[in-house]
Amino acid sequence: MSNQAANSRLNAETIRQLEIEYVLYPWVAQKGLNPPIIDYAKGNYFYDPSGKQYLDFSSMFVFSNLGHADERVVRAISEQAARLPAAASPFATEAKARLAKLLAEITPGDIKKTFFSTSGAEANEGAIKLARLATGKEKIIARWRTYHGSTMGAMSLSNDYRNWAAEPSIPSVIHCLDPYCYRCPFGLTYPSCDLQCARHVEEVIRFEGGSKRVAGFIAEPVVGSNGIIVPPDGYFQKIREICDKYEMLMMCDEVMSGFGRTGKWFAIEHWGVVPDVITMAKGITSGYVPLGATSMRPWVAEKFGGNPWVHGHTYSGHTLAMAAGVATIEAYKADGLVQRSAEMGKYLLENAKELKEKHLSVGDVRGKGLFVGLELVKDRKTKEPIHDGLVEGPRPPTAKMKVLAEAMKEGVYCLAGSVSVIMLAPPLTITKDEIDQAMKVFDKALNIADAEAIG
Ligand SMILES: Cc1ncc(COP(=O)(O)O)c(C=O)c1O
Repeated sequence: MSNQAANSRLNAETIRQLEIEYVLYPWVAQKGLNPPIIDYAKGNYFYDPSGKQYLDFSSMFVFSNLGHADERVVRAISEQAARLPAAASPFATEAKARLAKLLAEITPGDIKKTFFSTSGAEANEGAIKLARLATGKEKIIARWRTYHGSTMGAMSLSNDYRNWAAEPSIPSVIHCLDPYCYRCPFGLTYPSCDLQCARHVEEVIRFEGGSKRVAGFIAEPVVGSNGIIVPPDGYFQKIREICDKYEMLMMCDEVMSGFGRTGKWFAIEHWGVVPDVITMAKGITSGYVPLGATSMRPWVAEKFGGNPWVHGHTYSGHTLAMAAGVATIEAYKADGLVQRSAEMGKYLLENAKELKEKHLSVGDVRGKGLFVGLELVKDRKTKEPIHDGLVEGPRPPTAKMKVLAEAMKEGVYCLAGSVSVIMLAPPLTITKDEIDQAMKVFDKALNIADAEAIG
């Protein structure tokens, strides 16, 4: 860094003051904000201006799957910036050609073509339009405990306190119940339940007009910020059959669960099912440059052979994001990180289950790969959550937030999420020693939640 640049750097207090004065922070009431400052990051760690090190046990917002500041990706971005930093979407570029082909190779089945955007929400906006334009139908079936983004369409697919403030939602989105075995909405137990959660989806579709009116179904294959919900085996196979029966698109939001997070390139692969559309973001570039993608099977893309795909963004296929995506996927492959996520994920899950043995406040532990949730409860018998995510307005500090604050004090960062679940989602480069370190910190911090739980 040049001396001039170094001299002109802002000190920590100025950064905080300027941000508080000039930035509107997402999702929170602004009064009393005191944002932590991040100065730089490397590998599985980030650092504040005082040099204090934090183990990133959330991959920030579950995007830095590759860890921070990987030199291969940084170099690819900088070389692309020097050669062609941006190009309008009608132009073909080497980086876009490469990334689109790579995605066709790693996505399941015959998924082949991709529309590029710049965020997960936009990827889902694209999916809504694809389903409507490809089928000529209007209704989209989504699920309640889910998050698909904060733009109007994506938000309407989601359903938690975050979209209530923006209602009315876009029309013709219908929600159904979730395959949430720990709190089965039908009061049943797998496998004797006979997958009532999937049968319920069919019932909703039938009542909404079936093949005449329903364009598509969208779900996160493993739900992320609404609580790491892993569906029972058979659920998505049944959903695939239902989507075929009613001639509607099966769409998987893999914005969080994609790119090795669950131990497969895409979470839906755990169930051997090929959806018609997969939406992606986050891990596609490990977050280094914003990028969203909506990939589809040939039969969907062919609908736009004669008819135009009436959708687009200024930055669709932005060259910096394309170059970052290529370098990131090549790095996942070179370092075997998808397989590593499966292996380290088993270790993380075993260790997280030990926390459940020791802590009354941990009601359930579940996950796949390096995507593990600790569900906190006040009472294991009644399963009353410590906080259920359905609170509107300012949020009182919950036991979960206190646990996370304590972990942060001890140098382990974990994402808050929106429900009573602590999400453990470190970079796929995490080591066993680092998992041990985080578990030790949580073992201590969870005592705070235990104090509010009853046995
Ligand atoms: C499953 C899922 N879909 C979509 C989104 C929205 O992505 P973005 O914030 O990039 O718009 C998120 C964000 O966390 C997500 O977890």
